Amino acid sequence: MDRDDAARALADLAVQLNRANSAYYSDDDPVIDDATYDALKQRNAAIEAAFPDLKRDDSPSDRVGAPVTDGFGKVAHRVRMMSLGNAFKAADIVDFDSGIRRYLNLPGDQPLHYTAEPKIDGLSLSVRYENGQLVQAATRGDGATGENVTENARTIASIPQTLTHAPDVLEVRGEVYMRHDDFADLNTRQAAAGAKTFANPRNAAAGSLRQLDPNVTRDRPLHFFAYAWGEVSEPLADTQAGAIARLSDLGFDTNPLTARCDGPDALITHYDRIAADRATLGYDIDGVVYKVDNLDYQRRLGFRSTTPRWAIAHKFPAELAWTKVEGIDIQVGRTGALSPVARLTPVTVGGVVVSNATLHNEDYISGRSADGTMIRGGADIRIGDWVEVYRAGDVIPKVSNVDLSRRPDTAQPYDFPTSCPECGSDAVRDEGDAVRRCTGGLICPAQAIEKLRHFVSRAAFDIEGLGAKQVEYFFADAALPVREPADIFTLQQRNAASLAKLENRDGFGPTSVRNLFAAIDEKRSIPLNRLIFALGIRHVGEVAAADLARHFGTWDALMHAVDLAGPAAAAQLDADAAEAAERMAAADENRRARIKPARDAVWSDLDPAAKAAWEDLVGIDGIGASVAVSLVTTFQQNAERASIQRLLDHLDVQPVVATDNIQSPVAGKTVVFTGTLEKMTRAEAKARAESLGAKVAGSVSAKTDLLIAGPGSGSKSDKAAKLGVETIDEDAWLALIGDA
Ligand code: IVH
Repeated sequence: MDRDDAARALADLAVQLNRANSAYYSDDDPVIDDATYDALKQRNAAIEAAFPDLKRDDSPSDRVGAPVTDGFGKVAHRVRMMSLGNAFKAADIVDFDSGIRRYLNLPGDQPLHYTAEPKIDGLSLSVRYENGQLVQAATRGDGATGENVTENARTIASIPQTLTHAPDVLEVRGEVYMRHDDFADLNTRQAAAGAKTFANPRNAAAGSLRQLDPNVTRDRPLHFFAYAWGEVSEPLADTQAGAIARLSDLGFDTNPLTARCDGPDALITHYDRIAADRATLGYDIDGVVYKVDNLDYQRRLGFRSTTPRWAIAHKFPAELAWTKVEGIDIQVGRTGALSPVARLTPVTVGGVVVSNATLHNEDYISGRSADGTMIRGGADIRIGDWVEVYRAGDVIPKVSNVDLSRRPDTAQPYDFPTSCPECGSDAVRDEGDAVRRCTGGLICPAQAIEKLRHFVSRAAFDIEGLGAKQVEYFFADAALPVREPADIFTLQQRNAASLAKLENRDGFGPTSVRNLFAAIDEKRSIPLNRLIFALGIRHVGEVAAADLARHFGTWDALMHAVDLAGPAAAAQLDADAAEAAERMAAADENRRARIKPARDAVWSDLDPAAKAAWEDLVGIDGIGASVAVSLVTTFQQNAERASIQRLLDHLDVQPVVATDNIQSPVAGKTVVFTGTLEKMTRAEAKARAESLGAKVAGSVSAKTDLLIAGPGSGSKSDKAAKLGVETIDEDAWLALIGDA
C-alpha cells in the first residue's frame, strides 16, 4: 500500500467507523455487527501505525462513540464485568478453598495459591487500549453494558494515555476511588460554592466520574487501582500475581497490599493485616479479595451467572448499632409474600443512616426458626423494643438481637396479620413454608405493582424510559392505567384514542412520549428466556428461565409441556404437603427420619404422558421440583394465565437459537454425564459442555443424544443401551470437544 492508498483508506474508514459509532452510541441502532466493526477498527489502527503522519484529525482511533449529548453513550463490554461472591467468616474461606479443590479435582496435598488484596470501595472501570492508545473507558453498568466515560477517564492521572510494549488489545479493569483527604477538601470546596456535598468518598468518586463535562472531572482528585482485565489479544502472564506485576510495569497503580498466599490460613493472616491497616490507608476499603493465582485454573473454574468461581470478597465484619422499634410494617412482594419491616428510630450504622430493617418473617419475630428451634434464646420482638441492627456492606440491614432488659411494660407481642394489608385477601402459610402469602393474586395492587416492576427490570423487558417509578405512575393513572404487562403494549393505542392523552402531563413532552412508545415497540420482539423471567414466577430466576428456554426452545413447546405436566405437579404438591404435615407432627428425630416420600401412592395413578412431561421438566439440569411445581401451578391459575395470554397477543417471542451460533460438535446436543469422571469434576464437565452449546440433562431419555459414562455407571448406561443412545467414555468426550 502506498501513501495515496493509505490516505484514501483512512478517509474511507473514518466515514464508515464514525457513521457506525453514531448509529451505535447515539441512535442505539447499530448498522454493522461487532465483528465487522472490530475488523474495520483494527485495519484503521494498522494503517495508522504504518503511516503515523497520515492519521486524520477525525481519526476513529481517538473517538469512540459519538459526542455525548444526552447522558452517556452505551458501551457493550466485550467481556462481561463481573461482581464477586461474598464471604464473612474464616469458615467461608475454608469452604471456598475446598470447593475449588473439589471442582478442579485437586488432592489436598496439591499446592493451590491465591492472591489477596484490598477490596477498594469505589466504582469499577474498564479502560480499553488498542495499539497502546487509550481508546475507551466504560463503567460497569449492569455488567453487560456500561456508560462511555472515556473523556472523563482521560483526566485521571493514574490512568496512562498510552502504553508501550502492551498487547495490541488490552482492557484494564480496576477501581476508581477518592482518597479521604481529597474527599474532605472537595466537600469543603463544594460547601463554600453552595454546591452539593457528598455523603462518602465512594459517592464522590462516582459523581465525579459521571460528570457530563470532563472539565469538572478534571478538577476532581480521582485515582485508579488496576486489579483485573477484560479482553486481551495475548495473555498478560500465567498467574494473577504475574498479570498484576505486568500491569504495574505498564504504568498502572496496583495495590501495594497485594500478597500471594498458599492457602486459607495464609489468606486469613493477610486479611488480618489489611484489617489492622485499614484506618491508616487513607482510602476506603470494605474487605479483602482472594483470587486463584493460576490463570489456567481460573479459566477452568469460569463463572456462575454473575460471579467468578475463582474469586471471592471476604468482607469486613458487619457494623452494629442499637436502636428502638417504632413500628412494624408489612410489605407485600411480587409473589404475595408478606415481609415484616421494622421501622426504627434512625441510627447511623457504619456511616449510613438506617431507619428500616428487615425482620424476615413471622417466625423470626416470634423467636423461632422455620423448624421450630429457638433463635435469640426464644425472645420475640415487639414494638417499643430496643434492638440491635446489623448492616454489612450493601446488604439490607437486619434486626439481629433484642435487649429484653429495656422492654417497656406496655410492649405487646406482635400479631402477624392473617389478611393482606394491601387488598384484604386472606394471607396463608403453606405447610413447610416460612412465609405467609397474600392469596389475592392479580387483584392485589401491591403484587400487581411488584410484578410490573419486575417485568420492566433490566434482566426482563428492560424498556427504556419505563422504570419502577414510571410503572407506579401508570398503575395509578386513571385515564391510561397499566395494571398488567399487556397494558404496556396497548398504551400507545389507548393514548391515541383517549381524550386525556399523555402529552403535557408531568414529565411527558411530545419527545418523551414518542421515545417511550418507540422503546415499547422495540420490545414487542423478545427472547424467550427474558419473557419467562419477566413473568415473575416464584423460584424462576434468570438462570432457571434460561435453562427452560434452552431446553424447550419455543414458547409453545414450553406451554405444551407445562400443560401436560399439570396433574403430576398437583400430585407432587399434595405429596409435599402430606409429608410436611407428617414431619411437623413427628414427635422426635427418629420418627422424622422414617417418614417416606408420600408421592408414590398418588403417582401410580397418573397418566403416563403427565409423568413423562414431569420427568422431562425436572430432568433439566438446574430445574428442581419446586421450580417445576411453581411453573406449572402458575399456568393453572385461570386469571394469571389469561393475563399472560393477553400479553402474548402483543409479542413476537424469539425462540432460543443461541446454541446454533456456537461452532462445536456438541452444540444443540443433549448430553448426560454418569459414573466417575477422572479428568474433571462433574460441575466442570457441565459448565464446559454448556459453554460449547450442549444441553446437560440429569437423566437419560429418548431425547438424549450422548451419554458420557465413567467407571461405575449403572442404570443410566443400561437405559441408554435400551434406548439406543450413543455412549462414550470420558477420554472420547475430551477428544470430541477438542480438550484431549
Ligand atoms: S476483582 C471478576 N478486585 O468489587 C472479578 N474487584 O463486589 C472482578 N472491587 O465489581 C473483580 N476491589 O468493582 C476485584 N481488588 C479488587 C476489587 C474489586 C474492589 C469491586 C469491583 C467489583 C466489586 C464486586
